[in-house]
Amino acid sequence: MADEDRIEELVHQVKPAFKEHYVKLLGSVEAYERFIRAALRWPRKSIRVNTLKISVQTLRERLEAKGWRLEPVPWCPEGFFIQHPTGRRDIGNLEEHALGYVYVQEASSMAPPVVLNPQPGELVWDATAAPGSKTTQMAAMMRNEGVILANELDASRIASLKANLERMGVWNVIITQSDARRFTLEGFDAILLDAPCSGTGTLSKSLKPLEWWSERGLLRLSRIQYSLLTHAYSLLKPGGRLVYSTCSLEPLENEAVLTDFFARHPEAETLPISLPGGSPAFTVLEGSVFDERVRHAVRFWPHETGTDGFFIILIRKPA
Ligand SMILES: C[S@@+](CC[C@H](N)C(=O)[O-])C[C@H]1O[C@@H](n2cnc3c(N)ncnc32)[C@H](O)[C@@H]1O
Repeated sequence: MADEDRIEELVHQVKPAFKEHYVKLLGSVEAYERFIRAALRWPRKSIRVNTLKISVQTLRERLEAKGWRLEPVPWCPEGFFIQHPTGRRDIGNLEEHALGYVYVQEASSMAPPVVLNPQPGELVWDATAAPGSKTTQMAAMMRNEGVILANELDASRIASLKANLERMGVWNVIITQSDARRFTLEGFDAILLDAPCSGTGTLSKSLKPLEWWSERGLLRLSRIQYSLLTHAYSLLKPGGRLVYSTCSLEPLENEAVLTDFFARHPEAETLPISLPGGSPAFTVLEGSVFDERVRHAVRFWPHETGTDGFFIILIRKPA
């Protein structure tokens, strides 16, 4: 079935309450129609070059010599959308993948490490790390210098985290398995909290978020996200920075979580971030007024960025 026909079929299966909610968020039925079609499209394949093993230029030349077409991801210098004229999509079968020269990573997922900008020599906590897309990206940004503590709750996901670290030649990472809300080490220069979420930004990969979607489910997740965020912030050193990100488009999991967090932490600061194609977060929505600091957050809408949806904010603990 052609992709357009498949999308048309799926559009009609979306729950009316979901549609109504997103029409309100996006301001019109027309914007919703553009959003849902972009969100349901097969994901655009993208890779990140692993600069621990190869330069961007050399990798580019190598893949282009094999007929692949690479187009830069606007917010990540090592990221590329990738296409082959024959339509082949099996990047995971490439020699360059086996050698750890590239990581297949959705383009929007490259943004949180870029915003956190971990530096060589820093002590970094990746609070919810598996399967390690962002851990490996941060290790490359740190040139394998300094330490990343990569934590994951789910034991079954640790194997893929480990395998990815090995394949990418990362050696500045220590893996821990624990509930991030009970983690006790502190004094981090930088923390990435890529929180578990409803995944409403990732409909291109799975339709499950549409099935699960309910206000009750979102509220349950937002409580977990709030406790993860408040605990993570407590482990940050003064002057340290924290990125809170989700692959959810829901204000309940993003602006509302942050508003509760800022009420508890009036001293916390947010910093402006620049991500081409991103939209500002909501400051007011259906009678709710969010904390004014959320104005610095960025949301990727699939119909605007041509990627999965994402939400990102950079928080700083005053020195
Ligand atoms: C969005 S995924 C992280 C993706 C990862 N950052 C990456 O880029 O590859 C969220 C992860 O959080 C884990 N998780 C859920 N609850 C957690 C908790 N309380 N403590 C630590 N990890 C948790 C999930 O098992 C899942 O692997």
